[in-house]
Amino acid sequence: MDGNLTNDGLTSTEALLQSVKLNDRLTLSNRIVMAPMARFFADNDLVPTAEMAAYYGRRARAGLILTEAVVISPDSIGYPNSPAIFTQKQTDNWARVADAVHENSGTIFLQLWHVGRVSHPYYLNGELPVAPSAVPLSGRVPRAKGLEYGMPRALDVNELAGLVEGYVAAAQKALAAGFDGVEVHGGNGYLIDQFLHHDTNRREDDYGGSPENMCRFGLEVLDAVATEAGSDRVGMRLSPAAYMNLAPHPEDAKVIQHLLEELNSRDLAYVHEAISDDRHDYKDFGGRVSAFIRRHYQGTVIGCGSFTPEEANKSVNAGELDMVAFGRLFIANPDLVDKLLDGRTPEPYDVAMLKTLY
Ligand SMILES: Cc1cc2nc3c(=O)[nH]c(=O)nc-3n(C[C@H](O)[C@H](O)[C@H](O)COP(=O)(O)O)c2cc1C
Repeated sequence: MDGNLTNDGLTSTEALLQSVKLNDRLTLSNRIVMAPMARFFADNDLVPTAEMAAYYGRRARAGLILTEAVVISPDSIGYPNSPAIFTQKQTDNWARVADAVHENSGTIFLQLWHVGRVSHPYYLNGELPVAPSAVPLSGRVPRAKGLEYGMPRALDVNELAGLVEGYVAAAQKALAAGFDGVEVHGGNGYLIDQFLHHDTNRREDDYGGSPENMCRFGLEVLDAVATEAGSDRVGMRLSPAAYMNLAPHPEDAKVIQHLLEELNSRDLAYVHEAISDDRHDYKDFGGRVSAFIRRHYQGTVIGCGSFTPEEANKSVNAGELDMVAFGRLFIANPDLVDKLLDGRTPEPYDVAMLKTLY
């Protein structure tokens, strides 16, 4: 246990508060991760603000902070005021965020995001959103004057290398801004996840039709980003049970299993689960999503999804997970780690807390 973090009176979160060595480059002061959470407080040029830097700085006692999803290129945008990292101004202001966390001895990765079909011409200068296949998304576009989602444009195979370059360029900028690493967002039904699921990937070329082909785009992104950053500074987020923006299919588990097996040879910093509640059992995945990831992936696993600190501690203690990410609890408690150290009860989350960047 890290000497600074021991607390004799505390047993219920002891395992969580232990430091963890991810690899030769990264040792984290505890196993508590701040989950990535889109807050939509960037300015109208998608530049992160000073308030955002202070918000992340206040949470620097987490072993690892993951930024909210960050738009990597103009064609990646799907929501208003989500921060981006494709202009110099955006990059300069991200450096202030990284500095604020480092000044408080924290570690922070930036989450790389392309929404794929989860967008609308309203956000894309009139262009159609892009996706693996022309499969429409239904539902209301958030904060877009009552507009409905619609039909995306299927990506031509010749466009994929350019998309991969977009991820690499964003990763380069994140590292130049001083981030400790990047997380490739491969979950929640966004672009990479759209390739990984049968609902959204109907391609008949090298990027669809089999687990190998459906994983190809995500692995190309990951490998290119890892070549730029070093694999030890790259994590990947995955949501095997497809809980957002796309429909499940009984064959999806085979695709994710293949991906996890491929990741075993890549020496990543970690694989990070994305699901709203990890307590659910999924028949196709043979139980909990966290257990499915653990079964097929031998590296560091970050669990996430409605964990209480006590449950998280139990999972880490039992060796089921290496670290646990908390989302909503970190919105409610900037000082979550200190509260756990002191044995204080965290404030419960309330959706009204999203209105401000406390
Ligand atoms: C307000 C909000 C925004 C979120 N934005 C993102 C995001 O940008 N990227 C991402 O991977 N997950 C995002 N998520 C999912 C969280 O990272 C996390 O998986 C989820 O909240 C479950 O964890 P929790 O129960 O500890 O909150 C978001 C969740 C919330 C509540």
